[in-house]
Amino acid sequence: MKQRAKRSTWLISSVLAVLLLLSGCGQDLKEENRQDTITPKDDSLIVVGVSQIGSESVWRTANTASIQSTFSKENGYFLIFDNARQKQENQIKALRSFISQQVDYIVFSPIVEDGWDTVLKEAKDAGIPVILMDRKVNVKDESLYTAWVGSDFTEEGKRAGRWLSGHLEEEGRGDETVNIVVLQGTNGSSSVIGRTKGFDSVAAQHDKWNILEQVDADFTTAKGKEEMNKMLQKYEDIDVVVSQNDDMTFGALEAIQEAGKTTGTQGGIIVISFDATKSALEKVEEGIINVDIECNPEQGTYIEKVIKTLESGERAEKEYFVSERVFTKKNVDSVIDDRSY
Ligand code: AHR
Repeated sequence: MKQRAKRSTWLISSVLAVLLLLSGCGQDLKEENRQDTITPKDDSLIVVGVSQIGSESVWRTANTASIQSTFSKENGYFLIFDNARQKQENQIKALRSFISQQVDYIVFSPIVEDGWDTVLKEAKDAGIPVILMDRKVNVKDESLYTAWVGSDFTEEGKRAGRWLSGHLEEEGRGDETVNIVVLQGTNGSSSVIGRTKGFDSVAAQHDKWNILEQVDADFTTAKGKEEMNKMLQKYEDIDVVVSQNDDMTFGALEAIQEAGKTTGTQGGIIVISFDATKSALEKVEEGIINVDIECNPEQGTYIEKVIKTLESGERAEKEYFVSERVFTKKNVDSVIDDRSY
């Protein structure tokens, strides 16, 4: 606790100094900045530096909201939040800045798995525990981070595959050749690696499943539409679209509609999506998307649990999985009204 008080005081004086400079020496701080100036009682706040990937998707925005509401002053935290705008180099810069500010904990969602050994070693040498959120890192030494909180992406991919297998059987199409295209998110990210691996493992058990192409569409609606357009022009007979997040799915749906084709429970192309955001679940309810594999962005409370465990002097588990489900027309009504993102 003493160490935290020292760190926080140092950090807060820096913030205060910068604010004073920005506001013009001698002038009062503006009201909106006042909350960032710390009184002595704030020495008890736990300082958490969070590096977020960006705001590429509705899921990401919900993930950020979960972090911001959990790590509030009312809950006993001083949050330093950085949005890396989809660049690994920005995340590395943010981490280094958290290290130099001697925060108590670093939380970050690594955009890709590779390339973190050096900066994580710097955090470890500074004695700052690092908690990975959402995605994982590929490092030689696993002790470079304390814990990870996130989704079982491989299981999500398997769920998509198992659902497709069951659906084709139900429709009496189990022996048919099915042509599949896959819209993938950020290349090299854990979500893409896991979902692809999981889906491919089920596909490998079906010799009639023909994966025509897997393309990178960046987890965004614009890219999802662009890539889907190209594939519709290239392939006459697409039976299934696996879209690794809802934002890309919305882009793909636009492209499919503009091509004069239909999707979903009554349509021609089967659509499998990931995330289960409210607007996508509404499309499941309407029968436009067949199935949505949930990816739970509400990870703030799980991360807080890890921090509380560490604060009490106990060892945290290395991995914490968030809970997730699969939604189709049959069960989507049970969640749609309560979904906040
Ligand atoms: O890593 C989680 C993925 O990242 C979500 O599926 C996607 O929407 C987000 O941008």
